[in-house]
Amino acid sequence: MLFILLFLLVASTALAKVQAPALPGAQPISSKDRIYTGDQSSNTITVINLATNEVLGTISLGDSRLTNLLNPQYLRSVNSHGLGFSRDGRFVVSISVASNSVNVIRTLDNSIVSQTYTDRAPHEAFFTADNRTVWVACRGTSFIDIIDGLAGGVVGRIKTAPGPSKVLFSPDGQTAYVNHILSPTITIIDVSTRTVVATMSDLADKFSSDMMISADGTRL
Ligand SMILES: *[C@@H]1O[C@H](CO)[C@@H](O)[C@H](O)[C@H]1NC(C)=O
Repeated sequence: MLFILLFLLVASTALAKVQAPALPGAQPISSKDRIYTGDQSSNTITVINLATNEVLGTISLGDSRLTNLLNPQYLRSVNSHGLGFSRDGRFVVSISVASNSVNVIRTLDNSIVSQTYTDRAPHEAFFTADNRTVWVACRGTSFIDIIDGLAGGVVGRIKTAPGPSKVLFSPDGQTAYVNHILSPTITIIDVSTRTVVATMSDLADKFSSDMMISADGTRL
């Protein structure tokens, strides 16, 4: 199939199609050629028969969603969800699920310290005991993204089971626990070496959205 740009020339009474300059030897447009358009606002692809100017159909890739925030040129954070304080109370991290962004806010004056773009569908995040590094569970992947909350930016990744949903740290800050929405497991990670040290399996369901740890750190 040949994809060629067309110029449409508007004549006084009729539309005339003129083929744009193509590579030497390219065959002329035929009834078998198609135009595919990428439609930002409706999240569709439209298929057009350019011999007849007929729309043959649309391929749907998502819902139409148009607001001032989430639109074809969106730049801001969308779907503010998970919050987590640093242990010293100086910072709070905010996760924006739909725009894959993490904002760190200074509680002293509520200013935004950093903004970082993560892997797909970040959900919940907490600071490690250093009050600076943030571990983000990215549900749309199999990774915890590690970000520098002050300078911004992803500084590391740890592989988990599919769909990590939340990260909790033990009271002593040395161990991280990750639950998932696509796997009936808890991944247990040594914080200082960032390595998986154990996996708890056979949870009752593969979808585990949230969790808490007891104050003494002995129960999840
Ligand atoms: C983080 O904050 C906690 C609570 O204030 C404090 O005990 C700890 O020393 C801090 N960690 C660092 C690395 O500053």
